[in-house]
Amino acid sequence: MKPMIVDHPLLQHKISILRNKQTGTKEFRDLVGEVASLLCYEATRDLPTEEVEIETPITVAKTKVLAGRKLALVPILRAGMGMLDGMLSLIPAAKVGFIGLYRNEETLEPVEYFCKLPVDIAERDVLVLDPMLATGGSACDAVSMVKKRGAKRIKFICLIAAPEGVEKLHNAHPDVDIYVGALDECLNENGYIVPGLGDAGDRIYGTK
Ligand code: PRP
Ligand code: URA
Repeated sequence: MKPMIVDHPLLQHKISILRNKQTGTKEFRDLVGEVASLLCYEATRDLPTEEVEIETPITVAKTKVLAGRKLALVPILRAGMGMLDGMLSLIPAAKVGFIGLYRNEETLEPVEYFCKLPVDIAERDVLVLDPMLATGGSACDAVSMVKKRGAKRIKFICLIAAPEGVEKLHNAHPDVDIYVGALDECLNENGYIVPGLGDAGDRIYGTK
């Protein structure tokens, strides 16, 4: 299955500012949150609703509310944390879990260092968050960790993906829908997305 590319003009505009190497830490962090909100809007489009009756100041209306599907947000540390508040601004009742992974800079293999998920994760729709889907190693491992604890309905949400990462995640977890703001050209020899935006974690936290 192809990833869902959310090509809304607002989102594309904000991703262009993120790509610019002149964009500073504060603006970068704010924009990651805003883009995450826009991705959240699209990724929750299929949430079930139910009809209720509500008394407006004018009359009684039949109208729709969310049908109580439970959600969990699982950012991959560190960079995924940059997306969390933006997602929570639209779905404030979601529970939050954390997966700590970093990429070994030589092997590009993900190294796990933390996992704390809601106890009832198996009953929740899970949105795994990471701005970057590069080789796909981190995403595949994070989804496996969530599945190991019983989750069955999982989506992966990222700002920018490389075709290599999309393919790897899809092959490993064909049941997981992928939502991306932009699908880029390729990876470079260091495993960075081209054109990409550089190292998302470093740009969000100003660590380089
Ligand atoms: C980045 C990014 C992803 C991973 C993507 O994290 O946020 O987690 O790399 O690469 P992959 O698809 O090749 O696995 P990084 O390892 O730099 O850690 P950080 O978030 O702590 O900076
Ligand atoms: N991680 C990042 O932060 N950026 C990339 O381009 C690849 C992996």
